[in-house]
Amino acid sequence: MMYVFLWLYMVVPALATSPITVAICIIAEKILSSASSVYYPGQQQYDKDINHWTISAAQNSVCSVEPGRIEDVSLLIKLLGLTRTPFAVKSGGHTANLGFSSTPGVQISLSRFRDISYNAKDKTATFGAGLVWDDVYAALAPYNVSLNGARVPGIGVGGFTLGGGYSYRTNQFGLAIDTVVSYKLVKPNGDIVSVTQASDPELFFGLKGGFNNFGIVTQFTLRAFPQGAVWGGVITYSSANVNQVLNALATFSAKATDPKAALVSNTLSVPGQFQIIVTLFYDAPSAPKGIFDDFLAIPSLSTDLSTRSMLSLIKAGGGFDGLRATSHVTPNAFYTPAMLNAIWNQTLYWGAHLPAAANPIVTYAIEPFLPSAFTRATSDSAYLSAKSRAQHLNPTGMVFAYTADPAQAAKYEPIFKAAIRESAAFLTQAAERSGQPSDAVVYPNYAIFDTPLTDIYGDNLPRLVKLKKRVDPFNVMGLAGGWKI
Ligand SMILES: Cc1cc2nc3c(=O)[nH]c(=O)nc-3n(C[C@H](O)[C@H](O)[C@H](O)COP(=O)(O)OP(=O)(O)OC[C@H]3O[C@@H](n4cnc5c(N)ncnc54)[C@H](O)[C@@H]3O)c2cc1C
Ligand SMILES: *[C@@H]1O[C@H](CO)[C@@H](O)[C@H](O)[C@H]1NC(C)=O
Ligand SMILES: *[C@@H]1O[C@H](CO)[C@@H](O)[C@H](O)[C@H]1NC(C)=O
Repeated sequence: MMYVFLWLYMVVPALATSPITVAICIIAEKILSSASSVYYPGQQQYDKDINHWTISAAQNSVCSVEPGRIEDVSLLIKLLGLTRTPFAVKSGGHTANLGFSSTPGVQISLSRFRDISYNAKDKTATFGAGLVWDDVYAALAPYNVSLNGARVPGIGVGGFTLGGGYSYRTNQFGLAIDTVVSYKLVKPNGDIVSVTQASDPELFFGLKGGFNNFGIVTQFTLRAFPQGAVWGGVITYSSANVNQVLNALATFSAKATDPKAALVSNTLSVPGQFQIIVTLFYDAPSAPKGIFDDFLAIPSLSTDLSTRSMLSLIKAGGGFDGLRATSHVTPNAFYTPAMLNAIWNQTLYWGAHLPAAANPIVTYAIEPFLPSAFTRATSDSAYLSAKSRAQHLNPTGMVFAYTADPAQAAKYEPIFKAAIRESAAFLTQAAERSGQPSDAVVYPNYAIFDTPLTDIYGDNLPRLVKLKKRVDPFNVMGLAGGWKI
């Protein structure tokens, strides 16, 4: 029997849309328990299962599967691995990269893993991989705790927590990966395990940034932290006041020391106008005088600042769902005035130079964190080695979005991708001129699909390659897209 399995692993080619895949879907229907379902094109649940934040990251699958029990995920991964069937694992579907959580083969949606509980004794929360962060904030609010989750609505807990996770409280408690206590994992061979620092330190390291390389996570346990009312919200400024805003950002980046204060600033070009948006956050019902005064003194187009719940603040952000979009990133060790001016200049430049017929939207996210934010880890992580953490790399995310019908999209897609690559390279050079090391790694949750793995994992890569050989010797997870170690 073993030899037959080995043979199947080695010689059966991966044929995504073939009749074989249709047969695999039918077999899945037969072998999975009644807690799980298989859907086909034309069914409403299928549309939900293949749906993504940007339509350009979605694709049609032969079928979608919603496993309802971890045992069914185990059966499924064995079935797909043995038959070499391409598949995708989707949590919140917020990647902008085609094929990372979409596939022409079998789409797995984790949406039925929705349980969430708070353990007051351990101060941890355990939750299913099918939730979005809004659900998690809402469910934990009655306990007056929150987790280090996303800063805008709709983000899946899966990709965020398996890739890094920058939150409004990262200055206080680190990245999401720094707060993980355990993962419930279905390994590529179908084994169901709980992975902790004690049970398997190397796999625990790998999951903290390794996405789907080591299997499918159905449940996370993270440290929870006390959460009361917060102060903050969104201020929108016109381009007329941009110099004042950039000055305030440079001062905040260089001088802020209070870990309860955080902000994200988005430069924005939409057809016909340029703006700069700043979302302020303070982890108390009011912010001490001084921290945000510069921002409050600048005339704005609109402000939405108040004492509010964490969930209300999260819901104030976000946007651009349902467009075509490409995403990328440059690391920024220092948000110097020159760096911030370069980012604004890129906003103006690409806003003016991308094809106007595609209604381009260009945005850069300036995300200053304290150097101490990167020292909160209690064990090694795949994303951000000790060396990279010491470099204090703020992720400057960029999204270039547009609208076009499918026929036009084929023409625009390479133009937008080339533009975002050129912009990231330009900004990385500017950052290096301001003193950033040339081996600064990039944040995989923002990076464009073909970013080399050395640019993401840096000096951790050899360790991850070794771990991959141990955990997934037949490269079952290579059948699913994403960052492939
Ligand atoms: C509007 C917007 C705002 C954002 N804000 C933030 C932010 O504040 N901070 C931040 O750090 N990032 C942010 N991001 C980036 C975000 O972290 C990534 O897009 C992340 O991958 C989204 O997770 P997801 O589960 O929705 O993605 P998905 O597309 O579902 O998954 C992404 C990858 O992770 C894999 N994966 C997901 N779940 C599992 C699982 N359970 N087991 C194995 N593999 C899995 C998938 O296979 C895929 O390769 C933002 C993105 C957008 C579009
Ligand atoms: C949460 O905080 C509120 C307001 O301070 C308080 O009334 C409530 O009892 C707290 N709930 C728990 C579970 O501690
Ligand atoms: C603005 O951006 C363009 C395009 O990348 C570049 O050619 C130009 O040198 C930039 N100007 C400044 C002042 O940075």
